[in-house]
Amino acid sequence: MKVQRFSRIGFILAAAGSAVGLGNIWKFPYMTGEYGGGAFVLIYLITIAFIGFSVMIAEMLIGALGRADTVTSFERLAPPDKKWWKYAGFMGFNGIIIMTFYSVVIGWIFYYLFAIFGGLPATTQEAKNAFNSLIGDQVLAQIFFHTLSVIIVGFIVYRGIKGGIEKINLILMPSLMLILFGLLVYAFSLDGFSKAFAFMFEPKWEKLNSEAFIRAVGHSFFTLSLGMGAIMTYAASLPKDTSITKTAFIVTFMDTLIALVAGLVIFSFLFQFGAQPGQGPGLVFISLPTILHNFGSLGVFFALLFFLALAFAGITSAISLVEPVVQYLIDRFNFTRAKAVVVISFIYWLVGIAALLSFTNSWGKLFSMGGKPLFDILEFTTDSILLPLGGFAIVIFVGYVLPKTQVQAHLHKSGELSGKLYAIWMFSIRYIAPIALIFMMLNLMGVLKI
Ligand code: TRP
Repeated sequence: MKVQRFSRIGFILAAAGSAVGLGNIWKFPYMTGEYGGGAFVLIYLITIAFIGFSVMIAEMLIGALGRADTVTSFERLAPPDKKWWKYAGFMGFNGIIIMTFYSVVIGWIFYYLFAIFGGLPATTQEAKNAFNSLIGDQVLAQIFFHTLSVIIVGFIVYRGIKGGIEKINLILMPSLMLILFGLLVYAFSLDGFSKAFAFMFEPKWEKLNSEAFIRAVGHSFFTLSLGMGAIMTYAASLPKDTSITKTAFIVTFMDTLIALVAGLVIFSFLFQFGAQPGQGPGLVFISLPTILHNFGSLGVFFALLFFLALAFAGITSAISLVEPVVQYLIDRFNFTRAKAVVVISFIYWLVGIAALLSFTNSWGKLFSMGGKPLFDILEFTTDSILLPLGGFAIVIFVGYVLPKTQVQAHLHKSGELSGKLYAIWMFSIRYIAPIALIFMMLNLMGVLKI
């Protein structure tokens, strides 16, 4: 199989584009709000530094050594008596499950990009009604925008690594950063900024509990796109002689920076007008538009920029969720890229419709299980079960199964991970990451009642 190679900057931006997504701009701020600010941010930063970063190096390493789709990479690298490791490569399919709801949320963002021109909501109640009416009643609008998202993402993936994925990231990632940093500069001039800063960086220790810890570990995987083979698949097209450690560092750094900037921007706006931070998932769809209403027509402009940034972030992540399975179908079943994209897109488009229907008033019951909407079930399953499992497979594979000489040879060749740093990294993926993941999964199964 012929794997196209990214340019160096193309790879960095594509990997960062995958990492920087709805997780940073939508989820991170509302989780920070829910878990009380500083303490959560601190654990998040610690997990990113001590777990996420090491796992990203491990995941990139498998891709860079395997140079194929996830299944083939595992199969190639596993020792002869352990070829069953190829099944770990099926983690790529989780991307399709994530896409069923991720694409629906991108659809909501598209909808908001249009809706804000009709004026921003004047009260929280009005904003709540608008959001609830969208997800509760407007079936056709949701299907329309979800379909639009499926088509846009599908088209980019269809264009391939060079002509699609690299190109779009080269445009969207800098635009996204420009918008967010622009908003930050403005937020800086608001009184709300110092409150936002204090909220995010002054840990309230009484809020520090193990639930926050577990959510932080789960989120560090999600936000860095780990445990599903997205980064692995991109790394299969890593340009020659690229330092894995350096690239992983830049990507982790950018992802974290953007989450913090998004948080500061959103909380500055919110605190400027005394809104509460703990609003849950509706934070950017309900609280933010209401607050921006206070800025008059400037508010519409800010809302436009904000939702544009959110859309860009979502699209560049979505393509990394679709690409692994597409690559797999091309490599293993000789699909053309077009056919692979159409088949995969159709599947998650369809399930995505079921997911969005599960929130509606008329169809909700039909698409729920045990009182839980399908949307939530899909999100919970991937976020809290499948990604940690995938991450677990990655660290065990690199930490215990891959011959040490091979790991060392590559990391030494590619530059800097030697001596003490290498030892620390190995310790992290052999012990810290697996233990944290086991702890998380046990907790999920209710074995540890926390
Ligand atoms: N990291 C993206 C976000 O923060 C989502 C994402 C893209 C993802 N690719 C992934 C999550 C692979 C897990 C695995 O929104």
